[in-house]
Amino acid sequence: MTTTPTVKGKAAAAQTSAAKAAPAPSAENAIKPINRREFLYYIWGASVALLTAGSGGLLIWFALPRFREGEFGGVFPIEAGTIPAVGTPPKRIDAGRFWLSHTDKGVVAISTVCTHLGCLYAWVTTNNRFECPCHGSKFTAEGKYIEGPAPRNLDVFAVQVVTPSGTTIHGEGKPADVSGATEIRVDTGRKIKGDTHG
Ligand code: FES
Repeated sequence: MTTTPTVKGKAAAAQTSAAKAAPAPSAENAIKPINRREFLYYIWGASVALLTAGSGGLLIWFALPRFREGEFGGVFPIEAGTIPAVGTPPKRIDAGRFWLSHTDKGVVAISTVCTHLGCLYAWVTTNNRFECPCHGSKFTAEGKYIEGPAPRNLDVFAVQVVTPSGTTIHGEGKPADVSGATEIRVDTGRKIKGDTHG
């Protein structure tokens, strides 16, 4: 008499054949849990990668100019032919917030803001000087203090003089010699504070 295998028997047989078909994982192939040392190593690696990415981003951020050319805070290129001649009235560059003044000592780019309380002073041709309408401070064409309540000379911006042989930077605020220049570049991101007077 033949016997029909039960459902339980079939399942057991299937399990046995599956166990036979799948090779038992070897000790080498088995996934090992990471130990504490490896875990710390990965954390350290991730931290270094994050730090490097952060520093790289910051470096790019500081390396790129924040202001465009011709925008206050950036550089203003001025062709040599448009610089006022020596001894002529200074030229106000509104967008750059500076006066371009050319004396026999050279060119200076003077901030338009009075060093007393921040009013906008003006050039008075008849007196050949800058005069502030608010409290009467007066300055030479070079931005030097003459009289009034202002505590110091006018502030100036760094000027770069471009010649065929290279570029000279006047970052200390002294008048720049522009003879032979093809253009000058006024850096409104680099203001030099006027000296205080006695
Ligand atoms: S703000 Fe110019 S003199 Fe006072």
